[in-house]
Amino acid sequence: MTVRTVGVLGCGLMGSGIAQVSAAAGYKTVVREVNDGALQAGLARIRKFLTDGVAKGKVTEDAQSKTLANLTGTTSTDDLKECDIVIEAIVENLEEKRAIYDAVEAVVRPDTIIASNTSSLCITELAASTGRPDRFGGLHFFNPVPLMKLVEVIRALTTSEETARTLTAFAASLGKEPIAAPDRPGFIVNRLLVPYLLDAIREYERGLGTIEDIDNGMKLGCGHPMGPFTLLDFVGLDTTYYIANIMFEEFREPRFAPPPLLKRMVLAGYHGRKTKRGFYSYSST
Ligand code: CAA
Ligand code: NAD
Repeated sequence: MTVRTVGVLGCGLMGSGIAQVSAAAGYKTVVREVNDGALQAGLARIRKFLTDGVAKGKVTEDAQSKTLANLTGTTSTDDLKECDIVIEAIVENLEEKRAIYDAVEAVVRPDTIIASNTSSLCITELAASTGRPDRFGGLHFFNPVPLMKLVEVIRALTTSEETARTLTAFAASLGKEPIAAPDRPGFIVNRLLVPYLLDAIREYERGLGTIEDIDNGMKLGCGHPMGPFTLLDFVGLDTTYYIANIMFEEFREPRFAPPPLLKRMVLAGYHGRKTKRGFYSYSST
């Protein structure tokens, strides 16, 4: 399939990044949010990333304007009807994802591929909830999308060879390194990363050290770009909590269980950098 037009569902942390790299690669890109406030916040995140990129000498002004010219924001699923691929990056919740696939399938062509950026949900289950289980797959980007090179390509049991090939080629066309990952919760990277992040919270609760000392330990002692608490705030504590629940439900192993402190922080609305409060406080998002 020749991909010309790309739809993105959700313009949050991940959807905005995916829409940005798609538009930057030359695809006409339509990004859909639930309301104008969320859409404008997401589009502002893209504009800021590009403006900062120009200031840092990493993005040319020409690339900035071409990216923005390829990008359209909408709150209507009708505007996705021309899309060859639709990438879903909405909240990590099975029912919400199923509902948006129904709405998208009502407007797109039969050959349009739908891909999910889910971190942990079962791709085969998502595929089975659509009328196109062979034209559905997982396309898992990493945060921040414009800077992280990896994309995991996940085949459902039902994903066709052609769909997998198209998704892999599409990821490569964005300048990413695609790897094939199995349809198991967390795929490859989160299967290893999430227990580590949850362990950091559990050990902090047991008095291992301060948040700053644990972060500095992993940064300065192991060369990680961010310590676990900075990374948790960056990923989003709500998203991490949803992922942990999904992984625990599948594997029933204590290392995937969300620690009590994580649950309480999510209930308190401390979702990390995006709400200006998580393990740290932030003056801007
Ligand atoms: N436009 C273009 N380039 C930019 C830019 C912009 N707006 N902002 C920064 N850059 C470039 C910089 O110029 C720099 O390039 P060079 O390496 O060529 O010099 C590079 O990006 C790094 O930027 P900074 O030096 O400003 O920032 P940093 O060194 O602090 O790195 C980071 C920032 C890349 C986010 C780094 O902290 C990092 O890798 N953190 C870990 C992120 C991570 O683990 N992500 C995965 C999360 S898990 C996930 O996503 C999966 C899931 O399902 C939850
Ligand atoms: P987020 O909370 O930043 O953004 C989600 C956005 O989706 C919100 O802006 C919300 O308004 C919007 N939304 C909700 N329902 C929608 C609908 N029906 N149509 C359009 N938009 C809708 O979350 P995020 O961090 O961007 O995560 C999105 C997805 O990406 C999740 O499945 C998550 O697991 C996955 N993911 C997250 C990360 C990460 O580091 N945060 C990394 C990789 C994958």
